[in-house]
Formats: sequence, structure tokens, C-alpha cells
Amino acid sequence: MPKLIVGNWKMNGLAAESLARVEKLAVAVENDSSNNFHMVVCPPATLLAPLGAKLKDKAIRWGGQDCHAAASGAFTGDIAAPMLKDLGCDFVILGHSERRGRHKETSADVAAKAKSAHAAGLVAIICVGELEAERDAGKHESVVGQQLSQSIPDTASPENTVIAYEPVWAIGTGKTASDDDIRQMHAFIRGKVGRMQILYGGSVKAANAREILHIDNVDGVLVGGASLKPEEFMAIASASKLT
Ligand code: PGA
Repeated sequence: MPKLIVGNWKMNGLAAESLARVEKLAVAVENDSSNNFHMVVCPPATLLAPLGAKLKDKAIRWGGQDCHAAASGAFTGDIAAPMLKDLGCDFVILGHSERRGRHKETSADVAAKAKSAHAAGLVAIICVGELEAERDAGKHESVVGQQLSQSIPDTASPENTVIAYEPVWAIGTGKTASDDDIRQMHAFIRGKVGRMQILYGGSVKAANAREILHIDNVDGVLVGGASLKPEEFMAIASASKLT
């Protein structure tokens, strides 16, 4: 099965440089012969429309970084799942640790958003992951197990839901979990979610992508910082190659 390579641009990028970046990426994907990945970029909401226009006939798909649980209404500043769909999105990232932490989103909030994403025809990329103190205390599996059981709504299926395991201490820090830690956690998650695709995220870069992408039960990666550099992101995608 092709690996899913997702770029999370977070709150980075103005139109001119970002559109040039995505055009460069589209050319690189077109010229790539490894054929073993599907690529998704999740830019800031402000760029979804122009980026969608650039990628319309290309092999890269795109998604949002969050959505509201309601389909419309008096929610100033929020974006509804049908609005993302309206802009051609196929995916939406939900429950990223930056939203769970800074915006105090609970797993119940994430489940409600995922339900709304499913109703709109989007694939929900549901993020889970433990804090460093939770891992140090040996609680990582119970924390992630609870996040999974409370964040995945009853509308979820392997076709409309992807899980992203991102240990919070590995995000944007340059630290990655060890291969053994990733193998163990992905096996644990597999036991809970069956056929759903499971991504790893947290300081993935060209230098470690091959190793991570070939660990059992790693179906792809969710990439932050390194997805902002087209050559680096492309090198991560190419590392999906089987040989
Ligand atoms: P990072 O971010 O690759 O910059 O560590 C990953 C993420 O937050 O999804």
C-alpha cells in the first residue's frame, strides 16, 4: 500500500512563496519514479483556495489543519468541514497537540469535529500522542489508548480516518522516538484501530524518513517543519520506495 506523506505547514506561509513552493513540489512528484506514496499538503486556511487551483490536475491532494464540529453557525473565526470540502480539500488534521494543548481541545471535541468531517466527505487525520512526562512515567500507552477511544467517532472507518501518532516531545524539537518506541506504539495502535492507516509524526526529516517509513505498522508520516522545504519534503516522500 502506498505510504501517506502529509505536510502540515501550520501557521506559515504567504501566498507568493507558498504557491511557488507547491508548484515546485508538484513538478517533483510528477518526475518521481518511486510511485509508492500519496502526498497531501495542509497549508494555512488562507492559502487553500489558490493552492487548490494550482494543484487541481496534479497528484498532490490538500487539506485543512482544523475544522469546527458544526456545519455552519455563529462561530466567529472558525471554519466548518463543508467549507473545506468546498475548497477541494480531501483531508483535515484534527486534534493536533498544538490544538489540544494551546486551545484546550478535548478528545470529545476532536470526535465531534471528526464526525463533522466525515459528514462533509473529508478524511479525518486524528492526532494522538503522549507528553514527555507521561512517557517517563510509563503511561504512554494508557494515554494514547484513551485518546483513541475518545477521539474516534462511530462514523469512522479505514476509508475516512487516519491516525497520526505524534509524541508531543518529538514535535518541532529535533528529537524523534526510537525505532523500538515507534514499533511498539504503532503495534499498540494497530490493535485498537484495525485497518486504519497509522502515521508517525515528530521531527521527521529526509535523514530519518527511510528508517521510520519502514517500521512495521507505519503507513506514512505527518511532517511539520521539513514540509516547508520542497526538496526535503520530496526526499521524505521518495524514502517510501520499497528498495
Ligand atoms: P515537526 O512537526 O515535523 O516540525 O516536528 C510535526 C507536526 O506537528 O505535525
